[in-house]
Amino acid sequence: MGKIIAIANQKGGVGKTTTAINLSSALAFAEARVLVVDMDPQGNATSGLGVSLEEGQPSIYDVLIGRAEAKDSIVPTSVENLFIIPGNINLSAAEIELVTEISRETKLKKALAKVSDEFNLILIDCPPSLGLLTVNSLTAADSVLIPLQCEYYAMEGLGQLLNTIGLIRESLNEELALEGILLTMHNPSNNLSKEVQKQVEEYFSESLFKTIIPRNVKLAEAPSFGQSIIEYDLKSKGAASYIDLAKEMLERIS
Ligand SMILES: Nc1ncnc2c1ncn2[C@@H]1O[C@H](COP(=O)(O)OP(=O)(O)O)[C@@H](O)[C@H]1O
Ligand SMILES: [Mg+2]
Repeated sequence: MGKIIAIANQKGGVGKTTTAINLSSALAFAEARVLVVDMDPQGNATSGLGVSLEEGQPSIYDVLIGRAEAKDSIVPTSVENLFIIPGNINLSAAEIELVTEISRETKLKKALAKVSDEFNLILIDCPPSLGLLTVNSLTAADSVLIPLQCEYYAMEGLGQLLNTIGLIRESLNEELALEGILLTMHNPSNNLSKEVQKQVEEYFSESLFKTIIPRNVKLAEAPSFGQSIIEYDLKSKGAASYIDLAKEMLERIS
């Protein structure tokens, strides 16, 4: 069965989607069979991987509300071995529609259980909140990867996220592990970046990924072409960093 990793942080703009797109592509490039699940109503992972939802094509929203099976909502991307269950703005309704449903927190877990053995890894791109969509993601996941932007308030909100992870462990998903904390948008010539790195190393040495994602303009450009960094500019620093992260992750797993 494929390992399911939720990429979560309730702060927006910290690199969740960039990591979902490029880590999944780097893993697929290393010949793992990978599925991305776009749980953000903004649908940035979907568009960033060059996928657009055709009229009538099921999305993760249809899966969550029981209108479609996960297997029927999986679409290939332009990267070999990489697939996605697309998401779009409909998802924001799921947050409300599911509230009255029985076992509303386990919808994604149940849906993914039916397809997880077809993949080596499944990466879930979470929305920037700790609402029902993120709770579903953390309940479905084996582990959580937390991107932290190397900025002044990087650690702010981290306590709340770790608290939520603790609550999920107590009630919905006892086995939920911390896959690791990933420093993103790091700028080595910026003292603030170094300061954040030092602080995070102090608090989370064990769970910090050795790989650090640099600030790299190519990573910001790639999504507007519907391409991962592997396709857009394989020689960029951004591509190298996500390839390193994929290697680090695969080594840990094996
Ligand atoms: N390492 C990076 N270097 C440069 N720009 C980045 C990097 N990571 C993310 N970005 C840009 O920062 C913005 C926020 O990133 P995104 O991955 O969408 O965050 P989130 O999904 O957490 O909201 C996007 O415009 C993205 O292109
Ligand atoms: Mg995002």
